[in-house]
Amino acid sequence: MCGIIGYTGKSPCKNILLSGLYALEYRGYDSAGMALLDNKGFTIIKSRGEVSRLEEKMRAFHAPESSCGIAHTRWATHGEPGERNAHPHVVGKTALVHNGIIENFKEIHELLLSKGYVFASETDTEAAAALIDLYYSETGEPLSALSLACEKLCGSFAFAVMFEDREGELYGVRVGSPLLIGAGDGESLLASDTAAFPANIDRYIAMEDGGISRIFRDGFQLFDMSLSEIKANEQPLTQISRNTHKDGYEHFMRKEIHEEAAAVLKTLAAYIKNGLPDFSASGVDTSILKRLSSLHIAACGTAMHAGLFAKFLIEKFLRIPVFAEVASEFRYKEPIFEENTALLVISQSGETADTLAALRLAKERGIYSIAVVNVPSSSIAREADAVIYTHAGREVSVASTKAYTVQTALLSLFALHLGLLRGNICESEAQKFCFSLSRELPEKIDEVIAREDEVRALCLSLSQKESAFFIGRGVDAHICAEGALKLKEVSYINAQAYPAGELKHGTISLICKGLPVIAVSTQLSTAEKTAANIREVAARGADVYLVAPADFPQDGAKYIFSLPKATEPLLPILAATVTQLLAYHAALLRGCNVDKPRNLAKSVTVE
Ligand code: G6P
Repeated sequence: MCGIIGYTGKSPCKNILLSGLYALEYRGYDSAGMALLDNKGFTIIKSRGEVSRLEEKMRAFHAPESSCGIAHTRWATHGEPGERNAHPHVVGKTALVHNGIIENFKEIHELLLSKGYVFASETDTEAAAALIDLYYSETGEPLSALSLACEKLCGSFAFAVMFEDREGELYGVRVGSPLLIGAGDGESLLASDTAAFPANIDRYIAMEDGGISRIFRDGFQLFDMSLSEIKANEQPLTQISRNTHKDGYEHFMRKEIHEEAAAVLKTLAAYIKNGLPDFSASGVDTSILKRLSSLHIAACGTAMHAGLFAKFLIEKFLRIPVFAEVASEFRYKEPIFEENTALLVISQSGETADTLAALRLAKERGIYSIAVVNVPSSSIAREADAVIYTHAGREVSVASTKAYTVQTALLSLFALHLGLLRGNICESEAQKFCFSLSRELPEKIDEVIAREDEVRALCLSLSQKESAFFIGRGVDAHICAEGALKLKEVSYINAQAYPAGELKHGTISLICKGLPVIAVSTQLSTAEKTAANIREVAARGADVYLVAPADFPQDGAKYIFSLPKATEPLLPILAATVTQLLAYHAALLRGCNVDKPRNLAKSVTVE
């Protein structure tokens, strides 16, 4: 979603801001803009489309050499994605960029219209800029203006703000949407993500929710909404937290799939001690885990599919009910929390608005919360009672791949941990499974990836189709759901996933000659049943692509990817890697922008 970068310091900043915008591109956007401030006032440059178009425009226009500015990539919510609605929005002396949504912007609009303000855009952001400007003109003091404005604004937002008569100062506001401060030698920045900070910035501070910051060349101050100064918690900026290089790969998506084995290895190593699961690093309360009589899971998108995978395993190992629900539904349905329950939220970014809201709802109701998160210091990581980190490294491609693979591996280990804690699994069994997950799985993932050409060959026909089905049973149905999502996201092939037995209750009417059906079959207990479903669709002319171990029934399949021999619980995770590669190559063959699919955002910080 929208990306924010702001700079004040010793150097001319337009190129620093442009590099920041390029680094934020992965979040998804449809226009970009920049405001530079010098002693002559603001210079505003905006462009529809890519950051490169903004750069061209700035070159043609000879933008001034200012050393204070803010810039933005906008993912349209209020109003079409044109220049008029692009940020920064300037009202009076105030220039503002914004990530999030102002829910009561109509009300604010009315108030400001009555005070004589006129609006040039359709955005909620301009209303916020005008409100801040109103209070700035009344108080003459930026912090008071921001705090008064925040009192009136409802929603979730992060702002970077400049005031025309305060060159060299930036102001940040964080209410529900992430905002970080980067601290360097004689220069300071604000950004939505550490990736946007230049290489010489070595420390960052994640602003507290409900916080305001004042940023100078030589430092910064943090305040709460009542303007009491608060202490900063500085963190070192590591290479990992900002690594956005493709390292010779054509696309981040392919690079990230190729990093899966290493990411699984690194993550599981953090939670295995003496050959057994050990989650003490997460701070999770073992006594609560021992007492659980049910578990709730909330997440969005790919993370939700990892949640469904976890539900399957936890129910199998623990024999307790697990309720998994997309966070956008969970938060509004008045969930029923039984006694001795807990909420598990899963999020790569740790910033997804709905997932965060689900977490907050559970906390309000006194429910113990555990988060599986990839980004340290993210909102979800900071608010959950216990955090189990995936150490997948930065994921840049909008379509999540390595984060999912690592989540499924880690959640398998967590399910095993629960089973062991509660005596449902014995130590020797647990040791064996730990070994399979931490040693065998990375090796087998690399074996699958080494056969990428085979997957690409399967895509020659698939990439020419406009729709596809995925079918599988049990845990494979969840792998199918994620496979279909990946194919839709990056190749725009309309893919639907069904539990294999369900297809004939209606949707089989859509099966026709040449329609691709991707069947995932990894579990011996359901292999024959899935084989029967494959025969049913093949008999009606479907082109079946089978992803299964070599010794599983293959009748009816036109194309086959044989999974490597591996311990059975690992096979679904390997099948997921196959479907990720399938989506990647299908998208490439269709000429799609693989890393930045249309309309999608990497981190959905609005609901
Ligand atoms: C967006 C992204 C997906 C991601 C989902 C949840 O929809 O495009 O790739 O799976 O958000 O994100 P999270 O960061 O919470 O895992």
